[in-house]
Amino acid sequence: MVAVAIDGPAGAGKSTIAKNAAHELGYIYVDTGAIYRTVALACLENHTDTSDEAAVETLLTTLDISIVFFNGEQHLLLNDRDVSELIRTEEVSMKSSVVAQMPAVRKYLLDLQRGFAKTENVIMDGRDIGTVVLPDAQVKIFLTASAETRARRRVLQLAAQGIKEDYNKILKDITERDYNDTHREIAPLKQAEGSIIVDTSELTLEESQQKIIDIIRECVV
Ligand code: CDP
Repeated sequence: MVAVAIDGPAGAGKSTIAKNAAHELGYIYVDTGAIYRTVALACLENHTDTSDEAAVETLLTTLDISIVFFNGEQHLLLNDRDVSELIRTEEVSMKSSVVAQMPAVRKYLLDLQRGFAKTENVIMDGRDIGTVVLPDAQVKIFLTASAETRARRRVLQLAAQGIKEDYNKILKDITERDYNDTHREIAPLKQAEGSIIVDTSELTLEESQQKIIDIIRECVV
């Protein structure tokens, strides 16, 4: 099996690029951030205090989270309910980087993520894929861009979904999430050993995508 790990900060373009590259190469694409988002949504819906790790751990025992693919598109099921759209709000984004700091949450989600790479050629994106989830991945990419570029892209992405957000608020949120993700004790966001850095600040989506596909083809043939 071929495994491609793409890690990087919020809004670097990981999900769009990884999804299209997977389509082009015939691999499945797993967006691991969506799973953390699903835990965050469950906390919000159940009014679970996310400063209380024990409470989140208790909530986890009541959750059944699964990933299914409809026409090659990943969908997240929370207790059999499709929550793929509900997990995309800014409130869920911020909460996901809080629950992602908890060892119990990361442990709970690890096997779920590793399971895919056992039976399929995968491109998986997240924060700790090359470092923790799939340390033996044949290809490791660290995809990044300046915080300003990422905030601009996120505003446009939300606008396309009909959600209007202020650029300065999104920039502040992204900076806060970068801080949470790089400073947490467990599985912090960092460049995996042997990974190739791709900075997309000056690249269009098409250029970024082509670059990723070229890197993968070079590494796996
Ligand atoms: O799409 P975006 O880049 O905004 O974020 P995401 O990939 O959906 O991830 C949401 C949050 O989940 C991140 O801010 C991380 O805190 C957490 N996450 C993580 O800790 N480890 C992963 N492998 C993926 C996401």
